[in-house]
Amino acid sequence: MKFPEHGMHKKDLLRILSAKQRKNIKFSDGKIFGSMCAKPAQISILAYNMFIESNLGNPGLYPGTYEMEREVISMLGDLMHCRRVYGRVLSGGTEANITALWMYRNAYGKRKVILPEHAHFSFNKACNLLGLEPVYVKLDKNYTMDCEDLRRKIDSDVLCVVAVAGSTELGVIDDIPSISEICERHGVAVHVDAAFGGFIIPFLKRLKYALPDFDFKVSAVQSITVDPHKMGQSVMPSGVLLTRKNLWKSIEFKSPYLTSEVHTTLLGTRASGAVAGTYAVINWLGVHGYMELAEYCMELTRYARNLCNRYGFEPVVEPTLNILALRGKNTRRIVREMYRKKLFVSYAPCCNGIRLVLMPYIKKEHIDRLFNALSQIWV
Ligand SMILES: Cc1ncc(COP(=O)(O)O)c(C=O)c1O
Repeated sequence: MKFPEHGMHKKDLLRILSAKQRKNIKFSDGKIFGSMCAKPAQISILAYNMFIESNLGNPGLYPGTYEMEREVISMLGDLMHCRRVYGRVLSGGTEANITALWMYRNAYGKRKVILPEHAHFSFNKACNLLGLEPVYVKLDKNYTMDCEDLRRKIDSDVLCVVAVAGSTELGVIDDIPSISEICERHGVAVHVDAAFGGFIIPFLKRLKYALPDFDFKVSAVQSITVDPHKMGQSVMPSGVLLTRKNLWKSIEFKSPYLTSEVHTTLLGTRASGAVAGTYAVINWLGVHGYMELAEYCMELTRYARNLCNRYGFEPVVEPTLNILALRGKNTRRIVREMYRKKLFVSYAPCCNGIRLVLMPYIKKEHIDRLFNALSQIWV
């Protein structure tokens, strides 16, 4: 395609943009069952648009946005049981996980990182970029980190252990209190990837769901990834990395031509509308709004779980959060055939299963349509 010689009329351009947009699948169509991203709350879109001009890479020009970032970090620190927390709003779980390992490497200088087999692939990117050596720990029968295998593999040369609170494929939560005990014996820090779980587990615990502690309440936990653009209902791209100590100093770089003396993030220019979007949606929903959403998602999950009995599908594990995976044969083929029907489920390699993420934009009738379609191609 050639770079245009002359500008286009706005009306024509808008017509083209609308046509492109119509090709996309919308969350509200109820056809997306394999995404962990939120349909952003209206208030967060409004806030995003209000702050679209600001760039936190140059914070001296945008003290209002900088203030909101500090407040988001402080509110999330409160939610995660750390009063004096350090953190930044980043572009998502990948940047947050890379940044966590980057800080640990610079601060402690070791190379081995223990990853449970269900760790998100962002850790593979991180190890590759940072020259770290991943050591994989097996999963147990519940598909969570096998603490016996961790005991065998950990030693004092380990930089950190990654634990997952809300795994990508199954939504399970590692036994972080037991992992912490093992790590403390070796003086090793725990990084918790709660990119998905961080905005649902605390609210389900308030609703008396029996879920393990996963945050700074657990003593070896030194850092947590949590993504507002997933269960937080904020705009993309927004992720957060929280740390118990000020490890950010270990990734400080001079930023000579800007209003701040140093940068402590991977990105230079930072999409700061997302900071406003996250600030807005947290204040809009509050704990009680998030509790309602969490309960709604779990209600959807129970509904889908019960439909399994009617259709003869077998869940891989009983769902912990709002993710349900179905055991089956030829699941890759089923996923492809469902795509052809414009129903977007995803494949879970850990169990060769089909994975459904029951997000707040899903309705029960969407689940009925999905199961009906699945049953027609299931073998
Ligand atoms: C547990 C977990 N960590 C990290 C990520 C990466 O997040 P992002 O896609 O926002 O970079 C995901 C994405 O689904 C995830 O499920």
